[in-house]
Amino acid sequence: MTQHLIQTRRILLTGGAGFIGSHTYVALVRAGYSVAILDNFANARRDVPDRLAQIVNAPTTVYDCDIRSEKDVSQVFDSERFDAVVHFAALKSVPEGQADPLGYYETNCGGLFNIASAMKATGVEKMVFSSSAAIYGEPAEMPIREDSRPSPQSVYAQTKLVGEEFLTSLSAADQDLQVGILRYFNPVGAHPSGLIGEDPSQPPTNLVPVIARVALGLIPSLTVYGGDYPTADGTGVRDYIHVQDLAHGHVLSLDALFAGRGNHCVNLGTGTGYSVLDVVKAYERASGQHIPYEITNRRPGDPAVSCAATDLARKLLGFEAQLGLDDMCAGNWQFIKEA
Ligand code: NAD
Ligand code: WQD
Repeated sequence: MTQHLIQTRRILLTGGAGFIGSHTYVALVRAGYSVAILDNFANARRDVPDRLAQIVNAPTTVYDCDIRSEKDVSQVFDSERFDAVVHFAALKSVPEGQADPLGYYETNCGGLFNIASAMKATGVEKMVFSSSAAIYGEPAEMPIREDSRPSPQSVYAQTKLVGEEFLTSLSAADQDLQVGILRYFNPVGAHPSGLIGEDPSQPPTNLVPVIARVALGLIPSLTVYGGDYPTADGTGVRDYIHVQDLAHGHVLSLDALFAGRGNHCVNLGTGTGYSVLDVVKAYERASGQHIPYEITNRRPGDPAVSCAATDLARKLLGFEAQLGLDDMCAGNWQFIKEA
């Protein structure tokens, strides 16, 4: 009798203990991939791997490694053979990046260089890269198509665009390298187990984590940045996407690379926009808490509206978000009130 051995693909998730990385870990394991995590826990709790083990009912492999160290990164790639990398590890705070631009370039661009070098040295030919809607800046058209002209408004956004261009250029020169670039819009939500979620170790600047702190009574009210935008209620509109949908997008991206469908660069969003006040109301429904707010000046660099064109991700990956704003707020609240 002929034995058909199906080789399980081994994936390295850099930043796999973080918010989006941890949810993607679960989605990839559930999809049949074998996954190892590389993280230095700069912005993740040390118990995330144990929580992941609990969710998938199997032990977690973790490399405690800083991507800024070429030597340490090489050691990880020398210790076992990977079939692909999903590269989440990065610093992601817009204000922090303005205060420490060199630090942001060192991690987000230098770290990416170290990962790409180690991939080349060990024959790993596929990468999925975390990019951001932040690269679009103040978009000329809405919804934002992938071929819109990038216009990053911050050091953080610029590091993501540099990363994209670096990988696109590498893969144009080296036909063996295939890259999936995913431009996330505004991720929110948590795993239904309540065991993992968005758990910033620094005081948050993103909307939903700030609202969560108001709901918990840690801060007295939400400051709404701008009530005079040309939107229905005057507050900024964003394309919030559930982290579980985002995680599934990574499975589809890897599947496409392994199926030999070539490079892709797509938005991951829902295509639907919600204002700051829509999110406040949704969070009140989810938490049962009143969220006081006060409207102040606009935050520099914030566009009025940011919504994804979703047709390319649907066409190239079959990606379609399933969950809505109420699911996102309910997931965040369930996680945060027990964290
Ligand atoms: P996160 O901070 O929760 O996860 C990033 C992970 O990388 C953390 O676990 C952190 O400890 C790790 N890390 C940071 N520096 C490292 C280093 N030098 N070496 C090794 N590990 C390091 O952030 P996230 O929200 O999960 O974001 C993941 C990726 O998605 C990032 O690349 C981010 O830029 C991108 N992204 C995030 C958003 C968002 O709003 N959350 C939107 C668009 C794109
Ligand atoms: C959303 C809306 C604010 C906080 C950022 C990054 C982007 C990506 C996602 C990583 C806006 C308003 C916010 C507050 C508020 N991350 N707001 N009061 O700015 O769309 O995108 O996170 O890649 O790169 O730039 O998200 O959650 O900060 O803001 O009124 O205390 O909420 O003005 O309209 P943003 P956000």
